[in-house]
Amino acid sequence: MPRLSVWFIRLALAYLATGFTFGALLLANKGLAFAPLLWRLRPTHIELLLVGWMVQLAMGVAFWILPRFQASRGDVRPAWLALALINLGIGLVALGLVVDLGGWNVVAGRLAELAAVAAFAWHAWPRIKPIGQ
Ligand code: HEM
Repeated sequence: MPRLSVWFIRLALAYLATGFTFGALLLANKGLAFAPLLWRLRPTHIELLLVGWMVQLAMGVAFWILPRFQASRGDVRPAWLALALINLGIGLVALGLVVDLGGWNVVAGRLAELAAVAAFAWHAWPRIKPIGQ
């Protein structure tokens, strides 16, 4: 497996573990109502699992298995940029859990995630082709 996929997938698994833990706490708190503040984990739970786990896993596996050019994966720099941007975006969105930033962090985080998707598409587009071409 290429090094970039290793990073994408390791980080995705870390978000899966954290997101499930947050989900379990939310669920327990819904039943037992022991700490109302735990409800603040809800947006981060959604962010970690939808973007951190699902989108990042898809990028990591796609980078690994999409058709190659002979032995090369083409220009890999945009794909590395996508790794940095998507994690920056998740970090910015999750920051709202710790400090109240009036929502700017969510806007900035979503923009970083959008840029990550664009960077990944920039890398992957030429690799969407029949095998052998
Ligand atoms: C890949 C797995 C998961 C994804 C993508 C996911 C995603 C979401 C989303 C989108 C919501 C908001 C739903 C809404 O507003 O209607 C949500 C809420 C929630 N999730 Fe998850 N979730 C996942 C796994 C889990 C797990 C494993 C647990 C518990 C162990 C959990 C517990 C909760 C709870 C308690 C809520 C709040 C429900 C409410 O608003 O009343 N989630 N999750």
